[in-house]
Amino acid sequence: MENNDKMEKIVSLCKRRGFVYPSSEIYGGFAATYDFGPLGFLLKKNIEFAWRKWNVQMRDDVVEIEGAIFMSPKVWEASGHVGGFADTLVEDLVNHKRYRADHLIEEAGIMENAGGLTLEKIDELILKNSLKSPDGNPLSGAKKFNQLVKTHLGAVEDESTIVYLKGESCQNIYLDWKSVLETTRRKLPFGIAQIGKAFRNEITVKNFLFRTREFEQMDVQYFCRPEDAPKYYQEWKNNRWDFYTKMMEFNPEHLRWRQHEKDEKAFYATDAWDVEFKFAELGFREIEGVHDRGSYDLDQHSKFSGQDLRYFDAATNEKFNPYIVECSGGFNRLFLATMFEFYREEGEGDSKRVYLSLPPKLAPYKVAVFPLLKNKPELVERAKTIFDNLKINFTTAWDDRGNVGKRYYSQDEIGTPFCVTVDFQTLEDNTITVRDRDTKEQPRIEIENLGNYLNGKL
Ligand code: GAP
Repeated sequence: MENNDKMEKIVSLCKRRGFVYPSSEIYGGFAATYDFGPLGFLLKKNIEFAWRKWNVQMRDDVVEIEGAIFMSPKVWEASGHVGGFADTLVEDLVNHKRYRADHLIEEAGIMENAGGLTLEKIDELILKNSLKSPDGNPLSGAKKFNQLVKTHLGAVEDESTIVYLKGESCQNIYLDWKSVLETTRRKLPFGIAQIGKAFRNEITVKNFLFRTREFEQMDVQYFCRPEDAPKYYQEWKNNRWDFYTKMMEFNPEHLRWRQHEKDEKAFYATDAWDVEFKFAELGFREIEGVHDRGSYDLDQHSKFSGQDLRYFDAATNEKFNPYIVECSGGFNRLFLATMFEFYREEGEGDSKRVYLSLPPKLAPYKVAVFPLLKNKPELVERAKTIFDNLKINFTTAWDDRGNVGKRYYSQDEIGTPFCVTVDFQTLEDNTITVRDRDTKEQPRIEIENLGNYLNGKL
């Protein structure tokens, strides 16, 4: 398949089949916010389940929490986000549209990673390369733009009631770390996981789910002794690679690591590596960041809150703020990467089919059931009985529209691994066909063996 229009095809499939809808669509949409439709919701839950299984359930050193979105505004002062969570923007001097300076510089091919440039360097590059806005107009000088989303809570709207939506989801983990330590009676090292919302006032909003203003982050924050941090940093990097290649079943050739350059790192990180996924025509883009945060967060929150957040090591009689290794993946990007990874096209003309070759654990529906003809009550009745039995254990779809070929194509497009068809032979010998999405083979199976057959494959 040509890769230069894969994004367009995926956006269209997501809309057409109810994976993702633009938010507030009847009001013309609302930039960079999306709703997950019925199939998107099922896929989302399956991705989250896979993430949770890998990062929490299969380990005995990670527990999971779910924190509130509203937090004291002091959290964001202490974390450094109020002062330092900023992108650099430039403005079109004619129509006043604003752009991320690093994105314009990268898109113009001036350099690859422009994220760490100073304001002066950006101004210099714009001048030297006569860089114009996408509308061909001159650009302003570069300035900083804070990404935190602000609102007010309480009966009055003034400085005293400002609250910030979470700029990064993980802050609750740092605030709760001591409570988790004490209530779970853990010892270092251990991790706290969370899937939680984050909100960012992004200036550049394009590429569908890749850069949104509201998204979930899937975090593991791993607390350890300072001297052990390099070892666990490497372990978690290996772990992330295995998560994407083994749990998500991504082709390793579609993944790579990229270390942040010195000036590019977030203010809290002493070392940062991105897992990048190859989004076809868009090239390699970040889907997860692995950061060495040192004791930055616990130091800051101890200072601002006045609370002692230190760990007491009874074996050595020491008290210290542990170091944190952070793995922070974005859900929307993982969802989009999953669509890119498993989208397939096959054949030409009338026999062309689009299918999602999703690993069964991720597929929204595991199996679909059809009666060969919907105007034959005896077929419909048998198929309904099978459907009712299967849905106790598997997410199961029912389809009796059009002909069987069309139903297969329709299920292929949403990634359903198996389609069960009840036909006239079923009435004679209690067998059904089970069609495999990827191979298109259709072995006949006895109905009483269907559950075991599917269990063995799913
Ligand atoms: N707590 C660390 C942190 O927030 P980050 O690199 O800014 O680090 C982590 O974000 C991940 O969150 C990214 O790797 C990306 O997958 C996702 N992410 C960040 N901004 C995003 C946005 N505007 N839209 C969608 N996902 C985003």
